[in-house]
Amino acid sequence: MFIRHAPDIAPSEITDYQLYLNRRSFLIGIAALALAPTRSALAAPPAGESLPAARNEQFTLKDPLTPLESITSYNNFYEMGPNKDDPARLAHLLKPRPWTVQIDGHVARPRRYDVEELMRLFPLEERVYRLRCVEGWSMVIPWIGYPLASLIKLVEPTSKARFVEFTTLHDPAQFPGQRKSLFNLSSIEWPYVEGLRLDEALHPLTLLTFGLYGQVLPNQDGAPIRIVEPWKYGFKSAKSIVRIRFVSEQPKTAWEKATPKEYGFYSNVNPAVDHPRWSQATERRIGEFRRRKTLMFNGYADQVAALYAGMDLQRNF
Ligand code: MTE
Repeated sequence: MFIRHAPDIAPSEITDYQLYLNRRSFLIGIAALALAPTRSALAAPPAGESLPAARNEQFTLKDPLTPLESITSYNNFYEMGPNKDDPARLAHLLKPRPWTVQIDGHVARPRRYDVEELMRLFPLEERVYRLRCVEGWSMVIPWIGYPLASLIKLVEPTSKARFVEFTTLHDPAQFPGQRKSLFNLSSIEWPYVEGLRLDEALHPLTLLTFGLYGQVLPNQDGAPIRIVEPWKYGFKSAKSIVRIRFVSEQPKTAWEKATPKEYGFYSNVNPAVDHPRWSQATERRIGEFRRRKTLMFNGYADQVAALYAGMDLQRNF
């Protein structure tokens, strides 16, 4: 992955958290009223449209939110290109509806779901998480989704299921970054694949995500469905997922295949384990100037450290 400098955003431009929440509660109320009688009969909400969700206070950080403008203009989405502004520029090529997600592998109830149905299986929650990119920048994002654990329990993994593999759409017509050309020097073998251990996938922090900032996921942020695990580097959160497969062997992830010495399977945020080409001790929150200290497990140590008890995290990076 390349390091690029975050756009300079004055702290004053960061949305005041309380102001945002007040505005959100008001808008959710209006939206709920407008949608209530005909919700199930409505057509699919296209990206950018309002997506009402109740805030889950237990999973809501009080840090100032990163402005929506930064979250949608400074992205990593190599299917759309290697530069931070490629995704916003090319996002219109991705068609997130209709969209299906295949759920298969070692489960009692394999099924192909329409994303609209998937989105309504469980109540949507808003959760404010930190996202820490392996490149050294971070954001604070109000995601909308529900725990992946709810879906996992529904499809009933068998005793053979030890890992969960996530696969992103492979379609060069929608993703110019997947086209083969002399100028396309990406080292990623498509499709983008990520994975979690089953206990990580079942952790209450792991969010199956359909929206952010009160709206359906913008295409550049992984519409129509992505995964978010806030204690891991951002590249673990695969975007635009078409398949969730339960497997017995540890999946070979896209970045591991591309550069195994740099990107391991676990990818837990860890200030003590540097990337071979740069330190991970500090990070730059988008919109701030002074660097912050990187927090172990991105600040979620009290919730996730037990998952790794007894493991050598220098080796399992
Ligand atoms: N998912 C896919 N399919 N392709 C990608 O290139 N980039 C990852 C991750 N998910 C990526 C992906 C990386 S490196 C990061 S930091 C986050 O998405 C960025 O998410 P954001 O652009 O919504 O902030």
